[in-house]
Amino acid sequence: MLKETASQWLAPCLSLPAEEIAAKLELPPKPELGDVAFPCFALAKQLRKAPPVIARELADALNETAEGVRAETAGGYVNLFFDPAVWAGRLLDAVMAESFGSSDAGAGRHVVIDLSSPNIAKPFGIGHLRSTVIGNALANLYRAAGYRVTTVNHLGDWGTQFGKLISAYHRWGDRIRLEAEPIRESLRLYVKFHEEAEKEPQLEDDAREWFRKLETDDAETQTLWRFFVEESLKEFNRVYDRLGVKFDLLLGESFYNDKMGAVVERLSELGLLEESDGAQVVRLEEQQMPPCLILKSDGTTIYPTRDLATAVYRKKVLGADQLLYVVGAEQTLHFQQVFAVLRKMGEDWAADCRHVAFGLMRYEGKKMSTRRGKVVFLDEVLDEAAAKALSVIEAKNPSLPDKEAVAEAIGTGAIVFGDLKNRRLLSVDFHLEEAISFDGETGPYLQYTYARIASLLRKGSYERLTAEGAALDGQHLSTPAAWSLLKTVSLFESSILDAVHENEPSYVARYLLELTKDFNRFYNEGKIITETQDVTYAKLSLAAAVGKVLRQGLLMLGMKAPEQI
Ligand code: ARG
Repeated sequence: MLKETASQWLAPCLSLPAEEIAAKLELPPKPELGDVAFPCFALAKQLRKAPPVIARELADALNETAEGVRAETAGGYVNLFFDPAVWAGRLLDAVMAESFGSSDAGAGRHVVIDLSSPNIAKPFGIGHLRSTVIGNALANLYRAAGYRVTTVNHLGDWGTQFGKLISAYHRWGDRIRLEAEPIRESLRLYVKFHEEAEKEPQLEDDAREWFRKLETDDAETQTLWRFFVEESLKEFNRVYDRLGVKFDLLLGESFYNDKMGAVVERLSELGLLEESDGAQVVRLEEQQMPPCLILKSDGTTIYPTRDLATAVYRKKVLGADQLLYVVGAEQTLHFQQVFAVLRKMGEDWAADCRHVAFGLMRYEGKKMSTRRGKVVFLDEVLDEAAAKALSVIEAKNPSLPDKEAVAEAIGTGAIVFGDLKNRRLLSVDFHLEEAISFDGETGPYLQYTYARIASLLRKGSYERLTAEGAALDGQHLSTPAAWSLLKTVSLFESSILDAVHENEPSYVARYLLELTKDFNRFYNEGKIITETQDVTYAKLSLAAAVGKVLRQGLLMLGMKAPEQI
């Protein structure tokens, strides 16, 4: 907000549009350099003046006309020092306004976000957890930035692995066990299939035959398939409920079965399909990529074929302006190939498709492979996190009402934040003990600070004072800690826009950490509830603004913000 104000002041002095100036303004790293700085170097050529001269002229003009600010120069910079007594109240009013935190930057644009997308009959892996958490946060952030968002869970409910599963089920399956523990039983069958197929390779043929039957609408096979899908979904939904994640659309890969024919036909009409060892491929030599497989030698479709049909559907039927795929970095080549084939088909909008990749997550040092059956089950991880949170609560505040629900909020919050605080492309070494700690750069640290603010506001009767029309005197917020906190609070919206711009929710996560640290500095500087009502009310107002932003930020990241911990 200070940047916007400064750009409004500078615009007439330079006869440049305010937006252009705003993009050039900097937030100095040290308070001695002011609150906002304008570098004049880029203007030297055009104005035929040395940068320090331009800076001096601008500073003089601002000191003359602008209100509540002091302009100084340092070399080619104009440094602006806002007067907290004038600006504190304005900043707080802006933050407390209902619309704060939402903008119309994306108005009129429709983003379709592919997220989570676990595979049926397999455990919900840590990679799917990352996709769910990052994708859900992005969806919320895009919404806050004014975009229309459609989230799609692109369930892996189709492919040769179902042939394997059905083949294994016919040999070693047990319906009762499957109904009781669908994922664990499917996993047992899947692992057994791989073990046996090493000794008896013709099992692979049997699996292929089952999948072919499935693709050719064999009723009995389809019923069995549907049963697998439904049972798995029940288990996934428990995880989604615990994480508080909802999808606008649940369209698995199988949804595109009747939509792939058109794509294959199009590719063939355009002369893009070529035979290679009996399979049909699109060559991508010019793009320096291996060929993209479209139809296998037995005529069945494959993952890229389904993704081509999916992209076309999202663009043409859903009307997407932007298509995001929140999927692990190990699928980079797959998406590059799919987008390249779209371009070859003449679909220019392939440029609006983005693979939002992320790195591997190791859980307590473990990497996972479904094939070998070494799996960390997400529901167990969530249980363990909630149990750990509960034991902390028992020690800290045993009389807390609703202990279990709060522990669940903190446990899942620890996991979500333990992921989102990292830049998405980095690999994450997740350790529960560390992530659940109440101090350090953790979710619980943010949640605990929020609860502390909430209790402070209750104790200081902030709402009552506000209702009674207490007036805010910004003078009481001019200490370095208070002023720096005020500036940080007002940067919430720009952290959201930065996050959206780079599809990087960690920007908001790190922003919230900074906000929380700044708040704790302010809190430790001196009592908030004092003898003097004016002082108390000013400090409480700042705390309320921090609380509001912290809560909104936590919710956007997909966490909960309990009022009491
Ligand atoms: N089910 C896939 C997997 O687990 C992820 C799907 C991602 N989305 C997509 N449109 N390909 O690897």
